[in-house]
Amino acid sequence: MRKIIAGNFKMNMATAAERKWYVSLFRREFKNKKFGEVDIILCPPSVCLEYFAGNIKNKKVFFGAQNVFMEREGAYTGEISALMVKESGGSCAIVGHSERRRLFSETNETANLKIKTILKNQMIPIYCFGESRSERDANLTKKVITEQIQKGLTGVSSIGVERVIFAYEPIWSVGTDVIPAANEIMEVKILVRKILTELYSSKAAQSVKILYGGSVNSRTVGRVCVDPAMDGALVGRESLNPREFLKIAEIIDKN
Ligand code: PGA
Repeated sequence: MRKIIAGNFKMNMATAAERKWYVSLFRREFKNKKFGEVDIILCPPSVCLEYFAGNIKNKKVFFGAQNVFMEREGAYTGEISALMVKESGGSCAIVGHSERRRLFSETNETANLKIKTILKNQMIPIYCFGESRSERDANLTKKVITEQIQKGLTGVSSIGVERVIFAYEPIWSVGTDVIPAANEIMEVKILVRKILTELYSSKAAQSVKILYGGSVNSRTVGRVCVDPAMDGALVGRESLNPREFLKIAEIIDKN
């Protein structure tokens, strides 16, 4: 089954020199690896999406934004639309990342509008969900995730849902080097498939890709992606180094 490894650069790669370094190292490392059934998605800051998409050309490598606004165009100062991302060479967009929820007041409702806009543009949403440390401690993981999935998908058709990539990102694991146990991740994967079966069908539930994200590196990837049989990973910090990022991709691909 095809695996997906997505890199979320966040607000990094600020200088032209860094971007140039990344592209040349990525191209070199990529050429040296023999990838099988794997798609790589790079999500740089939107201002340099076109640069990355224009300089890394491979049918296994796709590009995406870290966020989009829900409208097509108009008086929305500071925002970018899915169409703009598409016109810059992107085919995906991350939605509902915990940093957007925490710092920019994103909710399940805004994530839902964004997912629908992205699908309408024939693009792929990468929908992030996951519980906080306090929710986990209060035994609310299941409840929180169920709500995130249900609300995030309101009004999304059964054809649409099959194009959504789901990314389980426990907030307490993002950027912390603390990771859940494989069985905890597996439980969430089973929960998501159960919710999707109830909302749609078992066919839809089985066909969607569910990634894990949160402190993934070449040492943790076995435990958080391979052991719980995830469909891939959403990688933050380690995606900033093409050598490490492609090493993670290789481990996922080979297992
Ligand atoms: P991290 O970030 O890999 O640096 O923990 C993951 C993410 O935010 O998607």
